[in-house]
Amino acid sequence: MKTLRVLTGITTSGTPHLGNYVGAIRPTVRASRLSHVDSFYFLADYHALIKVGEPARVQRSTLEIAATWLACGLDPEKVTFYRQSDIPEIPELTWLLTCVTGKGLLNRAHAYKASVDKNTAAGAEPDDGVTAGLFMYPVLMAADILMFNAHKVPVGRDQVQHIEMARDMASSFNHLYGEHFTLPEAEIEAHVATLPGLDGRKMSKSYDNTIPLFAPREQLRKLIMGIVTDSRAPGEPKDTEGSALFQLFQAFASPQETAAFASAFAEGIAWGEAKERLFERLDREIAPMRAVYDELMRDPARIERTLRAGADKARAIATPFTARLRHAVGLRPLDSVAGEGRTARTDKVATPTFKQYREADGLFRFKLLDARGTLLLESVGFESPREAAQAIARLRKEGAAALPGLGTQLQMQGPPQAVAEALAHFSENG
Ligand code: TRP
Repeated sequence: MKTLRVLTGITTSGTPHLGNYVGAIRPTVRASRLSHVDSFYFLADYHALIKVGEPARVQRSTLEIAATWLACGLDPEKVTFYRQSDIPEIPELTWLLTCVTGKGLLNRAHAYKASVDKNTAAGAEPDDGVTAGLFMYPVLMAADILMFNAHKVPVGRDQVQHIEMARDMASSFNHLYGEHFTLPEAEIEAHVATLPGLDGRKMSKSYDNTIPLFAPREQLRKLIMGIVTDSRAPGEPKDTEGSALFQLFQAFASPQETAAFASAFAEGIAWGEAKERLFERLDREIAPMRAVYDELMRDPARIERTLRAGADKARAIATPFTARLRHAVGLRPLDSVAGEGRTARTDKVATPTFKQYREADGLFRFKLLDARGTLLLESVGFESPREAAQAIARLRKEGAAALPGLGTQLQMQGPPQAVAEALAHFSENG
């Protein structure tokens, strides 16, 4: 029985390069072969629309990325491999999550904040050029993840905040409507080396220094010959430290091959010769996959069929799950009796809660929310989490009777009656 659900998406906005292969594709394809994981991989083409405004490029990239994953050995029979936009339940879930997501949470997203900071620095309006799509990016991503109740989400460091936000949205939804969503965890690929690009900086689309994974053999050779090196002459010993050439070799070769390459450096191999060896080593791993890739690229209809079959598999989960979620939030046939058809799992009754958090000013605060998640009380900032916890303990124990004593530390945000009722809930239930 497969238990662990792993899910990840790839934005279809570019052409896969060697860095993507070493950092994401190769480890992911290997992991997908483990028998205890149930893997979901998808082409995030709705996400692509946030940054790419060229329809032909979105389509081309979707084709290239799909062909790449298949050519690199992803087995669509073993995993669920699909295209995001083939699952209409994803935008539907995005809306349900939008309605339980604080706008303030999205204001704090790094990608959005970076745009605002850039505008502010340039003296422009904070939201200049920022689409609502960019702002909503984390909600769409949460829908991708929560739809399939993924446990683990392998991502780069820059995406960790998005997974945390997905957890927040899942908690809010569960709190309000019952336990529907698994809280996902990010799995950071820490051991995966980042690959240097042609200029020695990290290989990245944004530096324009990439080597396309499936460049034709001769083009691959030309690109490798163009990698930046120092000016040491043939016969002079060369440093492996900090050599892009060496790091690229190491990412593909066995430890023995790498050791032999290091000796050649020490013995003063000419840069031209070293590049030739790197090219041959890379091409040895890539050539068989490139042959499959080229064949797939000539037959887009076949890829289309594969993705459609993947979407059928994904929707076999997404369609009934969405029906359950619609029912949970009250989007129900009018002739169904209120509350009818609930499963035991969704039967949990929501209760008031305290939420503790820390703000950017470093102070600790808490809130009291009613069963529907509406804000009732907010505390001032405390220096330590202990002080916040003590105030909460008093409110739980004494209920509304504690309010006068804590007066200066709290701000009422809801009707006194509602605050008193919510607090009574705690003192009654211990
Ligand atoms: N935002 C991710 C990226 O740019 C791609 C992505 C979209 C994703 N939806 C996802 C990754 C869901 C993991 C899970 O890298």
